[in-house]
Amino acid sequence: MNVYELVLKRRSIRRFRPIPIPLETLKKIVNAARLAPSAANLQPLKYIIVEDERLRVAVFETLSWAAYIAPAGTPPEGERPMAYIVVLCDKNTDSRYCQIDMGFAVENMILVALSEGIGSCPIASIDRGRLRQILSIPEYLEILLVLALGIPGESPRLEEISDSVRYWRDEEGIHHVPKRPLKDILFINGFK
Ligand SMILES: Cc1cc2nc3c(=O)[nH]c(=O)nc-3n(C[C@H](O)[C@H](O)[C@H](O)COP(=O)(O)O)c2cc1C
Repeated sequence: MNVYELVLKRRSIRRFRPIPIPLETLKKIVNAARLAPSAANLQPLKYIIVEDERLRVAVFETLSWAAYIAPAGTPPEGERPMAYIVVLCDKNTDSRYCQIDMGFAVENMILVALSEGIGSCPIASIDRGRLRQILSIPEYLEILLVLALGIPGESPRLEEISDSVRYWRDEEGIHHVPKRPLKDILFINGFK
């Protein structure tokens, strides 16, 4: 699959199959983040891979899923992520662009993961205090985001927006994601 096809295919996944992800694959995914663009090339981001089963259970408890439809989006037991990558900003680098760097880095990881058959969901709604304790993260590292990973156990559907940006899950449990059409967001040679 080429990059555009991966971009079209990518959806946030919140149901996973109970199949372990090899550590080497997780490292490859983080390597894709390492090589992402970075403002002033400061490279302020650090990463923690969590694949240990006991830690996975603890990390899961710190995350909030799909707020619009809670609790329907939360992965039930047996369909939870098989790994997490925690994205951190090293405040000692003085980068003003951690959040922007993070966006580039995380999309790199999402697409490389997908190219390996691994689905993901970026999660910013985190109990950061608890996660800091669980993973012994020092104060100089700000917790930006957690990328949840696993072999997809669902196939969310892309929808054209009608009146709301809110995603939904239908009676069969299929997750639908409305996106704005190109004609509403794209302007050529000026905003007109
Ligand atoms: C910065 C950011 C934070 C997000 N935080 C959460 C979150 O806390 N929980 C969650 O379930 N999904 C989270 N998401 C996933 C979005 O809900 C998802 O991207 C959106 O519904 C569009 O669906 P799609 O990713 O399939 O295109 C986040 C996405 C982004 C970009």
